[in-house]
Amino acid sequence: MLKLSVIISIAFCLCIIVVIIPLIAYGGHHIPEGSIGVYYVGGKLTDKITQSGYHIEIPFISKHKVIQTTLKTSKIKNVECGTSSGIMLNFNLVEVNTRLKHHLILDLVRNYSDSYLNLWIKQRVHHEMNELCSKKSVDEIFIHEFDKIDNRLKGSMQKTIDKYSPAIQIISVRVSKPSLPKNLLQGYTDIEKQKSYIKLANQKQPLELQKAETEKIRALENANKEFQVRQIEMKSKIEKIKSKREISKLEDQLLYARKKGIADGVSYKKKSEASINSKLLTKQYLKLQVLNSMTQNNRINYGSTVQNVKKIEIERSTRSK
Ligand SMILES: *[C@@H]1O[C@H](CO)[C@@H](O)[C@H](O)[C@H]1NC(C)=O
Repeated sequence: MLKLSVIISIAFCLCIIVVIIPLIAYGGHHIPEGSIGVYYVGGKLTDKITQSGYHIEIPFISKHKVIQTTLKTSKIKNVECGTSSGIMLNFNLVEVNTRLKHHLILDLVRNYSDSYLNLWIKQRVHHEMNELCSKKSVDEIFIHEFDKIDNRLKGSMQKTIDKYSPAIQIISVRVSKPSLPKNLLQGYTDIEKQKSYIKLANQKQPLELQKAETEKIRALENANKEFQVRQIEMKSKIEKIKSKREISKLEDQLLYARKKGIADGVSYKKKSEASINSKLLTKQYLKLQVLNSMTQNNRINYGSTVQNVKKIEIERSTRSK
């Protein structure tokens, strides 16, 4: 009995050592996040797909490959292309971002193994760029249409890929500025500079115009203000002159009336004596004085205003002559 149990436990241990440990050591594998595992048995791709995590396969018989399904950037260096004039341009770096369509991945690997990116992106870029360049001149590629190259390359690549390898989806393409043969470079740098100067000048122009316009408006406003101030000044001057004239007119009338009064032998001591009225030149007072002197006159003529009074006085004086 005892012997049997010992044998069983030894067999169990052996089993663990011989079977389970190698199975885990050689068959255990890990599929990282954003990838899937595909399996070859005897070199043939099976339909088995595993998601990210730990998995076990039969050691030595089954082999797996990890396929990244999330966005993947392929960097292709030194892409040369010949322009229509035969000059070679060199793009230092072309970056292509791709993603795979999940349901087509097995087909993709079956068709092109796991080197599909090499075949359809890396090698393809050289070909497509050459095609693209061959129809263009150097300045089209280098200056005028450089900003459109990314999208053109993406479009032409996706077209071929859709036809032969629909599992690949190009998300974006970025092409670095090409380097030119040295003798050409200086000329093109000058052109670029000039272009940016022109652009800058064009942007500046409206700004300058606007500035000039506001300056003009400001100058006009200032002139207007000045004019108004002058006007006010003039008005007050005129006003002063007018009132002076009025006062002297009144003084004259007063003097005349008083002389007349004295000649008529009428006395108006107190009021006339009150230190002669040239010192009290308020309009109202003067008016009053005039009227006072008139009421003491024998021949009274009432006028509504001082002017009328004057007219009457003149009439009177001409009559008395
Ligand atoms: C695989 O190749 C076949 C035959 O050329 C083709 O019809 C199919 O679209 C390809 N599939 C993928 C995902 O590349």
